[in-house]
Amino acid sequence: MFVFCVCQFGSERLLKAEVARTWPAWRLAFSRPGYVTFKTDLTDRSRALALEWNPVFARRFGLSLGPTKDDRLPAPQVRGTLRLLQMHAQGQALRLHVFPMGLPHEGGFPCPHCLAVHDRIAAQAQASGVSLLAQPEPQDGDLVADVACADDGPWWVGLHRHHARVSPWPGANLPLALPPDAPSRAWLILEEGVRWSGLPLTSGQTALEVGCAPGGASMALLQRGIDVIGVDPGEIDPRVLAFDRGYARFTWLRRRMQDLTRHDLPRPIDWLLFDVNAGSNVVLPYVERLLSWARARLHGLLWTVKLNSDGAADRLPRLIEQVRATGLVDVRCAQLSCHHREVLICGQFPGRPGR
Ligand SMILES: C[S@@+](CC[C@H](N)C(=O)[O-])C[C@H]1O[C@@H](n2cnc3c(N)ncnc32)[C@H](O)[C@@H]1O
Repeated sequence: MFVFCVCQFGSERLLKAEVARTWPAWRLAFSRPGYVTFKTDLTDRSRALALEWNPVFARRFGLSLGPTKDDRLPAPQVRGTLRLLQMHAQGQALRLHVFPMGLPHEGGFPCPHCLAVHDRIAAQAQASGVSLLAQPEPQDGDLVADVACADDGPWWVGLHRHHARVSPWPGANLPLALPPDAPSRAWLILEEGVRWSGLPLTSGQTALEVGCAPGGASMALLQRGIDVIGVDPGEIDPRVLAFDRGYARFTWLRRRMQDLTRHDLPRPIDWLLFDVNAGSNVVLPYVERLLSWARARLHGLLWTVKLNSDGAADRLPRLIEQVRATGLVDVRCAQLSCHHREVLICGQFPGRPGR
């Protein structure tokens, strides 16, 4: 059986290395930027659909049904998709997800081409013996058809089983666009990280963000009604500095993480965020230090880890263990659709409100 993986544009090599470490029996099959398939040693469809795997570099994976075949009749890709789904869905009703193959997320949300493809497949599904559920939003246990559309070749079709730990969005792409007035792309990264992690960041809490300039993530937190203490020697966007709505306002500690003392912290914090453009080996001691200072009340951590050197990705398994060793539980790490050369590591202290 074949497995498909959706990864970030440019992260194919990292994904292949992760697969080689985790599943040595798998062999690389088809590979395009952002979409990679593997021939596996899995033989049972149900087990393949229930595979326990929390990859860092595949934000969506599932059973690959293969590419649509070209022929001379009209709409070969729509017919090919439906033929594969009819053969493999075994009469089960499916959610339909259509997403672009290999295009970076900046290709734009919503993707008008994908919406049109979705509607063309849906319009012919019943006549082709494929039962589709009305809305694309999956519920726990639903079988989802994953259609990856390329402009210049066949579409690739897959299936995955939805559950609470996997992204509900087509291709695991965040269904949001960067607001024109966001201070930085980190606005989207924060929104995706919070939604993907399910961590309960809620209005009335306080977050400390280290590496907060110019303030995209801080703006997203403030807009969620969260009070923000930001640490960064760099300039902060004036709209972040001026934000003052209810409980949510921004306090700037204009210094480096190395110069921060316990006495600088103006109030207890609920969430610790790090987004410092330095290697994880440099940042980890400050993550550990702040976790220990704030531990009495802290709920958890969201750390955007930069993969800015060769070998940074190989060190992630050890880094995840080091983060676990701080006492955080349910530590997860993933490269999400808004990330470039970075990943998110997040976790929660035990006994705090659940996800
Ligand atoms: C990717 S940017 C952060 C983007 C930010 N989170 C946002 O939402 O716009 C990385 C930041 O790390 C900051 N930084 C680098 N070294 C630092 C240090 N030693 N202490 C604190 N911040 C640092 C930089 O000034 C820069 O603003």
